[in-house]
Order: sequence, then C-alpha cells, then structure tokens
Amino acid sequence: MNVLFIGDIVGSVGRAAVKKALPALKSKYNPHIIIANGENAAAGRGITAAIVKELLDAGVHGITMGNHTWDNKEIFEWIDEQQRLVRPANFPAGAPGQGAMIIKAGGKELAIVNLQGRTFLPAIDCPFAKADELIEQLRQRTKCILVDFHAEATSEKIAMGWHLDGRASLVVGTHTHVQTNDDRILPEGTAYLTDVGMCGPINGVLGMERTAVLHKFKTQLPVRFVVDEGDWHFHAVLVDLDDATGKAKRIQKIRLTETDLMMM
Ligand SMILES: [Fe+2]
Ligand SMILES: [Fe+2]
Repeated sequence: MNVLFIGDIVGSVGRAAVKKALPALKSKYNPHIIIANGENAAAGRGITAAIVKELLDAGVHGITMGNHTWDNKEIFEWIDEQQRLVRPANFPAGAPGQGAMIIKAGGKELAIVNLQGRTFLPAIDCPFAKADELIEQLRQRTKCILVDFHAEATSEKIAMGWHLDGRASLVVGTHTHVQTNDDRILPEGTAYLTDVGMCGPINGVLGMERTAVLHKFKTQLPVRFVVDEGDWHFHAVLVDLDDATGKAKRIQKIRLTETDLMMM
C-alpha cells in the first residue's frame, strides 16, 4: 500500500497548501492512506473540530498531534469522540484522547501510533516503553504500522527508528518543521525519516512571522508569535509497504512549493 504522511500543518496557509497539493499528489502517487500532523493547524496552536473536518474533507484519513495538542482548549470537548485523531500515547495516564488508532481507507488498513520525545520537551512517560506496549498489541491486528515520533532531538528520533526496526513499517519524525535528508529503509524493513518537515509559510521561522521571532532572539523579551502569511512549502513523505509483512519497499521525500506544483 502507498501511504502519504504530511508534516506539521501550520495555520490557514498550511491548510490551503494541503488542499492545493493533495489533488496533484493523489493523481501522481495514488496513496491509499493519507495521514497528517495537525498540532499547529489552528493558527499554529492546536486544532479545532472544524479544522479536523476541513482536513478530513480534503482527503486526509487520520491526524497525529504533538506538544501543541492541548493549546486550543476546545479539544477537551470532543477529543474522546474523535476516532481519526491521535495525540502522543506517552502522555501521562488519564489524558483524554487516544494514542493509537486503526485507519481503514482505499481497501487498506494501517495502524497509527503517535509518540512524543522527552529530550528538550516536557518530561512525560517513556516513549520507547510505550512503543513496545502498543506495537505488541497492534501487531496482532496488522503488521502495517506508522509511528509519528514527535520529538526535538535528532538523536532521540534516530534511536526510536532503530528501536522499532522490523516492528513498525514507518517511523517518521515531526515537530522541528525542517525536513531532514536521511530517508532510508533500515535493515529489518522499517522506513525511516528523522523529520518530515512542515506545510505552511516558507518565509517565516518554522511557519511563524519572522520579525517577532527575530525580536525575541535579539531581546529575550516576551513576544507573541503569529503564523506568517504568503508563499508556502509542503513537506511530506511517501512510502510503499508490503501489505502482508508490513515491511517498507520504498520511501520518498516530497518537498513542494506552489511553483513546483504548477509544473507537476
Ligand atoms: Fe509543529
Ligand atoms: Fe511540536
């Protein structure tokens, strides 16, 4: 099966980029299942029920989250009922929502696990132990498993790739908003990419308007960041999985601007 995973969608510019890019990507690559990280989809901070619907209507089948999961408080009203969204599974016990889900689309079935790193991020439960627990359960249902490891440190992400080699089909990193150039298939068949990147404004700093970010760096004073406007870039990764074994056959990074899209 072909799986398309889209990096952190940032604000309305990022959502517009997804809606513009998906029709061309669908006809070119025929993805059976499309998953996107939505932790920054609502003006850079969290996600709303309306935006979940907007992304699902655009063709996304499932949404992963990260450290911004709770930023938009309305999520507490509906997360327990939303079956197509996962938040990091290693948030402390009792957190609302789910950390893993099964997505069925295009005649295929894919398990999705969301985990969050602990290096340069809040101290939460061990993502490696939580991965072991969830993957053992999920593999009784399907061997096709995608793990979105939302983490800051490249070392922690690479370590997770090795930890899950042969047990997950795809381990992708999110959170840094910068696409890395280390896509590969690990020896036991797990497709791996340290960070998928982002979908959103290209001329800001990780999607945020840059003068405010520069002001913060230069003065260390409190500054309110807002999502930038203007041109966008769209970062994703495409993998081809063997449905029976869950092993990856191919991994390909995708990096598009509006100009690239017009030439597709
Ligand atoms: Fe993000
Ligand atoms: Fe994040």
